[in-house]
Amino acid sequence: MRIAVPKETAPGERRVAIVPETVKRLAAKKVETSVLAGAGALSFASDEEYKSHGARVDATLDAALADADAVVQIRPPTLDEVKRLKEGSTLVSLLYPLVSLDLVKALAARKVTSIAVDMIPRTTLAQMMDVLSSQATAAGYEAVLIAAQTLPRFFPMLMTAAGTIAPARVLILGAGVAGLQAIGTARRLGAVVEAFDVRKVVKEQVESLGAKFVDVDAEDAAGAGGYAKEQGEEAKRKQAAAIAEHAAKADVVICTALIPGRRAPTLLTADMVKAMKPGSVVVDLAAEQQGNCELTKPGEVTVQHGVTIVGYTDMPSRLCAHSSQMYSRNMEKLLLYVTKDGAWKLDPKDEIVAGSLITQGGEIVHPKVKELVQPKGAAATPAAGVAGA
Ligand code: NAI
Repeated sequence: MRIAVPKETAPGERRVAIVPETVKRLAAKKVETSVLAGAGALSFASDEEYKSHGARVDATLDAALADADAVVQIRPPTLDEVKRLKEGSTLVSLLYPLVSLDLVKALAARKVTSIAVDMIPRTTLAQMMDVLSSQATAAGYEAVLIAAQTLPRFFPMLMTAAGTIAPARVLILGAGVAGLQAIGTARRLGAVVEAFDVRKVVKEQVESLGAKFVDVDAEDAAGAGGYAKEQGEEAKRKQAAAIAEHAAKADVVICTALIPGRRAPTLLTADMVKAMKPGSVVVDLAAEQQGNCELTKPGEVTVQHGVTIVGYTDMPSRLCAHSSQMYSRNMEKLLLYVTKDGAWKLDPKDEIVAGSLITQGGEIVHPKVKELVQPKGAAATPAAGVAGA
């Protein structure tokens, strides 16, 4: 079996899906690697390094794809890029299939088997393949560093001859993977940290990192698989009051709240931003899902009511060397899980395969995605009819 690793084409993307060290480990399990020349350059992985680890480096993408059984990348392909994929080959990448229905239809029409790595269930077994967690780790860390650099104040408490400096107060909204990493990073920089989450089970984790959990007297929203579920209006009202009170005292607010499959909850309203201290900073990791802060502009840094609001959507790419290394390790574990002796072993009854396999043999095989593309009762549209979409 051979995998091809293209150069990421999304604007500004610096990561690469497979780093040189992974090439050797995959080859030991009969998975060979072709890399497009320069694919790792922005992550500081040179063609020479890939070659020395046993990869074939191809001068063109077509040469890399020609004999590849699978393409492994990070960002979803564009519809034009789907047309370059070989019929019958497999694509392993982020796909966001629940909101990218045109892409799913194009992959089915092209008869490409697709594995959406963002749909891998968050179970203990799948932990080592969980790219959302590995990349959110980078995002949580980076968010705090950007906040610290943007804030016109120190993070730690300092006792100097020029007087005592009070520590910065950081409020973290959402204590999942990114939020917990943000708490740890802010604490290491010496800030006083508070965190709020609708899942009360994280209280202990928050406290073990040295932060204070903002306890709101409202229903617990713990849902399946370590994710949150939607709450009632009364709970939302109480939470909004608590967030308003704590945000007004904070120097930094880091937003990481997410309910999978929905737009990000609006937690920090324009009025709450207005009530924050001038010079304060909001870093909104949910910017791509319309933001936890009402005033966030995706991909931009804006100053509103004297508060700097950072809406970068490329945090892992800003830490490209380690984000690539972690993504690559996730891919190694996934590829070795779904292959045996260099041949596919895609068991549809397996929980990880069932959760992430989206298209196969010209069909959309993931039940939830299929239902979205073709709601029950609607007339069937042959996938081929959408090929040029
Ligand atoms: P996660 O699912 O591990 O954590 C999200 C947390 O938000 C959960 O603990 C959940 O209980 C909590 N939550 C949900 N609704 C809430 C509410 N109303 N109030 C308070 N907490 C609430 O997600 P993860 O992996 O930590 O990712 C966090 C966010 O960061 C996501 O939106 C993700 O897309 C984003 N992200 C952004 C990147 C960037 O470059 N901007 C890069 C990577 C991730």
